[in-house]
Amino acid sequence: MTQTTAYSMDAFIDDVKDIFANISDPKAQAEAVADHLKDLLAVPGWLEERLDLPEEGGYGRMDLHLEEDSGHPGPGWLLMCSVQRPGQDNLPHDHGAAWVVYGVYDGAIEQTKWRWFFPGEGVKEASIKETGRFTQRDGSVAYFLPGEIHNTRNVIGTEGRSLVVRLESQKLDRITRYQYNPLDNSMRVMDR
Ligand SMILES: [Fe+2]
Repeated sequence: MTQTTAYSMDAFIDDVKDIFANISDPKAQAEAVADHLKDLLAVPGWLEERLDLPEEGGYGRMDLHLEEDSGHPGPGWLLMCSVQRPGQDNLPHDHGAAWVVYGVYDGAIEQTKWRWFFPGEGVKEASIKETGRFTQRDGSVAYFLPGEIHNTRNVIGTEGRSLVVRLESQKLDRITRYQYNPLDNSMRVMDR
């Protein structure tokens, strides 16, 4: 890369391929991908070039790149974008044996982390409880390792959308994973 060439999504994809080729530890993979995603998020305009986004709305998810030759725990890592509506949230969930990197291109999302607490830790029965939260704004990245539980909420305001870029170390519809309800401590397998 020369000094005059801005980082690009294609260069990011090559970097992620190199990471999977050269690093086997999933935490080290996630850290390295997060570092590169931070660089990509700092480049203005690249996401709009890839998406046909209306001025407002355009909510939903779009795949940006599926790579079948590498991934963790199996092949098929995915780069995607979700355009989140005001207040959009979800229930706590894990990503099975995969790790994920979340980056905010534009907007703000609150990340909440959870874990199970068991008798002896101040609960009478196994309970899913919050362990912390933080907010990601423009250019911010965060990763979640295999088994970690979190949920996201768009906190940009009552009118704004958040553009969130996510890299799944293996396309999540290929992964067995769970969603948790803190109100009754129930869990269910997430739909493929
Ligand atoms: Fe997630």
